[in-house]
Order: sequence, then structure tokens, then C-alpha cells
Amino acid sequence: MKFLPILSLILPFLPQSQATYKMVAINGAPELKDSYPFNVTTGQSWKDCLQRCLKSLESLTCHMVYLKGDICYFYFLGDFHKIRNDGSELTMANEMVAFKVDIPNGQCLGSASSTLASHTGSYELPEYMGIDITSYGISETSESYDVTYNYADECNRPYRTGIPCETCSYRMYSFRGTISMENGVSGANGPWNQCVTKCLHDATCILAASDKYLSCVLFKIETFDKFYITDNYEIDSTTANYISVKLTNTIPSKCSGVQELLLSNTMDVTSFNNGKAKSMSLMLYRNRNNEVENCPKAMMSFRGMPKLVNPIAPSSKSWKECMYECYKDSNCYMAYMKNYPDCRMAYYGNVDNIIRIEAPPTSSSALHFAAIKYVSDDITCTMNFTGLWTAGRPLKCETSASNYNYSAYQSTTSGLSSTFSWIGKNAGCIPGFTEKIPGVNGCVRLIVLNNVTVNRSAAIAGCYKYGTYGLMTISTSEAFSVFRKAMTTISRQAGIYHIGMSRKTATSAWQWDFPELEIDKSGIAWASGEPKSTNLYAILNITATTAVLISSSASQTADGELCYVPS
Ligand SMILES: *[C@@H]1O[C@H](CO)[C@@H](O)[C@H](O)[C@H]1NC(C)=O
Ligand SMILES: *[C@@H]1O[C@H](CO)[C@@H](O)[C@H](O)[C@H]1NC(C)=O
Ligand SMILES: *[C@@H]1O[C@H](CO)[C@@H](O)[C@H](O)[C@H]1NC(C)=O
Ligand SMILES: *[C@@H]1O[C@H](CO)[C@@H](O)[C@H](O)[C@H]1NC(C)=O
Ligand SMILES: *[C@@H]1O[C@H](CO)[C@@H](O)[C@H](O)[C@H]1NC(C)=O
Ligand SMILES: *[C@@H]1O[C@H](CO)[C@@H](O)[C@H](O)[C@H]1NC(C)=O
Repeated sequence: MKFLPILSLILPFLPQSQATYKMVAINGAPELKDSYPFNVTTGQSWKDCLQRCLKSLESLTCHMVYLKGDICYFYFLGDFHKIRNDGSELTMANEMVAFKVDIPNGQCLGSASSTLASHTGSYELPEYMGIDITSYGISETSESYDVTYNYADECNRPYRTGIPCETCSYRMYSFRGTISMENGVSGANGPWNQCVTKCLHDATCILAASDKYLSCVLFKIETFDKFYITDNYEIDSTTANYISVKLTNTIPSKCSGVQELLLSNTMDVTSFNNGKAKSMSLMLYRNRNNEVENCPKAMMSFRGMPKLVNPIAPSSKSWKECMYECYKDSNCYMAYMKNYPDCRMAYYGNVDNIIRIEAPPTSSSALHFAAIKYVSDDITCTMNFTGLWTAGRPLKCETSASNYNYSAYQSTTSGLSSTFSWIGKNAGCIPGFTEKIPGVNGCVRLIVLNNVTVNRSAAIAGCYKYGTYGLMTISTSEAFSVFRKAMTTISRQAGIYHIGMSRKTATSAWQWDFPELEIDKSGIAWASGEPKSTNLYAILNITATTAVLISSSASQTADGELCYVPS
């Protein structure tokens, strides 16, 4: 026999409201994994909790209350989906759920389930909340009460699970987890559903998070590089830990509606679009620490026309799968799709240049979807999309590439056109050939050509040619004794050499090409009268006893260059 209490708290919802709301209570508990309370209060009586949901200020956002022991959890429409049905058994934990429902004529029926079935399933929600729910229904099975929500426009549904993703351009997936709030922007504070919906409709938003109840923080492209996911759904009384990721359907696409696939180690691609043509794909990678990150590697996607040498053509069905083929293949650098569904992949070294396109595709035979594989290193883990073109420094290739002919590449960009210089595999730090500098990662290689002098751009090209990453940073004065020793081994005593220091304009600060190698500034010793006010580059002038910096122009030639070899 089922005895289900119907609480007869008949209180007006809002003064202007025509509806008569009642709290209808059943024994049970919401499925924690897919429910998101907006307030947790301890030490209130059950009756007080129901009163609060019905007629306090919070009644506007309260549509369901869950009681466990002496803790009340308050829920907003759309933030609860499945309630366990405990029938007439009051559990040891004393768990109850009360739905706020509008009952025709205020008439409660004989049982909670028939009362729930008869309610009109509508709420008056203020427009500013942006919630598009037109009605909802609660159906009862012996296992659960299942709540379904109806939307005026199905694509306004901030999906949570089981998503039929073909129909709408955007979907949201919610999780429990954390992210650094530093670069987020405070959105509309309110219940979680409001926050998720806000992100769904904000073209620049790609992730929403809440660390405190009723707070909402929205994230744009390139404002985060990792977040954490937890499988612990226990509700904390002060910390919300809600995360929702927005996925954009790239056209043409097939997408998975299975939330778990999104964060599996085998990856899933998320294409983010900031409303303009620029987009970014994160290979969401869930590591053992439950950290979800786009490191250690990511496919960064955009539109463009690459010049590919010997491209590979894997069989694939969608752009997403094409990118994934490249992501998996450690030799692959670029995925490209001009015509749907012809996937092309280029290996490291086999892309000469690319011209980016900043407009959306107009036909499936001129998609020009391209994606570059970005492999993080200690320094550039947080690099953003723009950095691919403007980093001004070599970016690493995947070291596990079986065809490991290149260790890095450097892009040179002018407007929308970029060319790639491929940096051959370096042999690392070899004694007698390259020199270690105390306290500095990697080593320095001195490149000197007999009877030939080189200008700055030729010096940099020379560094790349020998598999080094560019001109060296002199971190300390100790470095000079190392340079002298290096020169002794090649029977050179004096000369001027290009090093990795420059400034952008005549008024900006001097900077090392690899600032992370700088230990102290004792290496910066300018010759008297230096630097000259118009010069933008630094050269090292070494004699048997002195080593000073002199400034130079781009065309100034020197006897060679000091290059950086990463270890
Ligand atoms: C819940 O609401 C009560 C009453 O408005 C408030 O005092 C409390 O701080 C809220 N708790 C949280 C976790 O926001
Ligand atoms: C991208 O990274 C560069 C260099 O780290 C930085 O200057 C720029 O502000 C970043 N852009 C965005 C949109 O975060
Ligand atoms: C790498 O070098 C080997 C031998 O020189 C060559 O056969 C192979 O094609 C190269 N791989 C790539 C990707 O260039
Ligand atoms: C460099 O120039 C000197 C003098 O001009 C000459 O004796 C020497 O042979 C040259 N070395 C090479 C490698 O060309
Ligand atoms: C390098 O230093 C030496 C010794 O001080 C000096 O004679 C020479 O002119 C300097 N070279 C340049 C290019 O400044
Ligand atoms: C640098 O030298 C190269 C040839 O080695 C030349 O083509 C280039 O124009 C020179 N650049 C400048 C700025 O002098």
C-alpha cells in the first residue's frame, strides 16, 4: 500500500500570479549526477523549507526541494531530471522530495502521483532569465519520477545528457568539476540552468562554471587551457563545482550524444567558434588526475588553404574524424578537408605554407577546413590559437613520431599568409660540439662559417638548419667563459656573433628570444655608447678578455651565431 502525503500548504506564488502552487511530497531523492541544486541549507525544519520554496524571495527560482536529514536542497526548473521513487518507505536517511506544482482549481487528488500527473506543468518565469521551458511533466514508474521539459525551440534546451546533437548548432554538457576562475567573466548569477542557458546563447561563451551557489562565470575562447572533472557527486553545502562545456557542430558533422565519450582518453573533438571564422578544437584529454586539458597536444582548427606535399588520404567520414586521424598519428602535422568528406593529412615537413581564410564556407566543396597539431612544451603549454602564427619561436613536433625527421617548426606570418620552416632533428647536447651553460636547460652551439659573414635573418636560418631552435639567450656572465671555451675548440678567439636579443621598436624593452632561459641579467653588458638609439638587434663582441653587447641593424653581418639547442 502506498501512502503518499500531500502537503496542504496553499500559498500564492507571486502576487500577480494566477497559478496556485502547492508542494507535493514523495519519498525519494534526486539522482545526484544529473541534478544541480542552487542552495543548501541546514538546520531548517521540512515545513520551513517548503515555505521558503513557496513564498520567500527565492520562490521565483525554487521548483523542487529535497530533504535529507536536516539538510534542505533547493532546485530550479531544468536542474533536476530523475527522482528515485522510494514508494511508501521512508529511508533511513529520511529523504524526501517535494515538487512545486500548479494544480488545476487547487484540487489535490487522492495520491501524490495522480496529483503530479494532473498538474499543468507550467511556471511563470521572468523573461530576463532567458529560460525557454514552456511546460514540463512528471511521470512515475516504480523506480523513479522522471521529469521532462518542453521547450518552445528545441535548440534552446541546455542539454545535459543523451543529446540528439544533429539538430542544433550548439550543445552544453554539464559535469561536476573545477576551473581557475581567473580569466572568466561573471555572467548572470542565478541557478545553474540559467547560467548554462546564458552560455548557450552567448556566441563568445564556450564554457560556464560555478564554484559557489548562484554564481555564474562564463569563459571565452583562449581563456583557459584546462579544467578538472570529478566523479564525486556528493553535494557540498558551500561549493557548487559545476562545469558546462559548449560544443559547436562543425558542418558537416556527426556527433556523439554520449557525455562520457567527450572526456574519454581516446578523445573527442570540441570545435569552438567565437562567432567569427576563428575557431579552436580542443582534444579534451582526461588524464589520471581527472584533469581535462588540451595538453599535451591539441588540434587547432581554422579555415585555410595549405600547400601540402605528398598528402595522405585516410578514409574518413567527417571533419571531426579527419582531425582525429591526424591527432592519433604521431607523424601527422596537419589535417585538411577541402571537399567533404575528403580528408587529407600532411606529415611533419610536408606543409610549406598556408593562407588562412576568415569567412565561413559557402559550399561543401570549398570547405577548406584545416587543423594544425600543437604539441605543448614546458613553456608553451598555454599557447593560444594566435600564438600558432605569431609565437616568433619554434614550436615542437611530436617526439614520438616514428618518422622523426624534424624536432620543431617555426612559422613566419605576414597578414593571413604563413610559411613554415622545418627544423631538423637535433642531436641534443653533444660534448665538444655544443656546450652546456651552468643553470641553463639545453646548450649552446656556435656556428661559424669560414670567410663568410651572415646578417641576422641568415644567422637565424643557420640555427634552424643545424636543428637548433634559434639564437641563444645569454643568461649569466658565466655564459661568456663557456662561449670562449667553445671558440677555442674551433680555433677562434675573437669576433662578433649574433645572439637572441632584440627589441620590437626603438622605444620598447630589449628581450631575449627565449626569456625562460634567463637566470639573471649579469650577461647584459653593453659596450660604451651602446645600445644605439635606432638599432633593434644585439650582437656579442668577444675578444680574448672581453665580451660586450653592441647593437646592430638587421643587415649588419657577423662572424657567426650562437644558437640554442634544447635538451
Ligand atoms: C541559501 O539561502 C540562505 C537564505 O537565503 C542563505 O542565507 C544561504 O547563504 C544560502 N546558501 C548558499 C550555500 O548559498
Ligand atoms: C594569446 O597569447 C598571447 C601571447 O601569450 C597573448 O599576448 C594574447 O593576449 C593571447 N590572446 C588571447 C585572446 O588570450
Ligand atoms: C625522414 O627521413 C627518411 C630518411 O631520410 C625518409 O625516408 C623519410 O621519408 C623522411 N620522412 C619524412 C616525413 O620526411
Ligand atoms: C679564408 O681566407 C683566407 C685569406 O683570405 C684564405 O687564406 C683561406 O684559405 C680562406 N679559407 C677558406 C676556407 O676559404
Ligand atoms: C669589438 O671589441 C673590440 C675590442 O674592444 C673592438 O676593437 C672592436 O671594434 C669591437 N667590434 C665592434 C664591431 O664593435
Ligand atoms: C641577409 O642576407 C641575405 C643573404 O644571405 C639577403 O638575401 C638578405 O637580403 C639580407 N637581409 C638584410 C636585411 O640585409
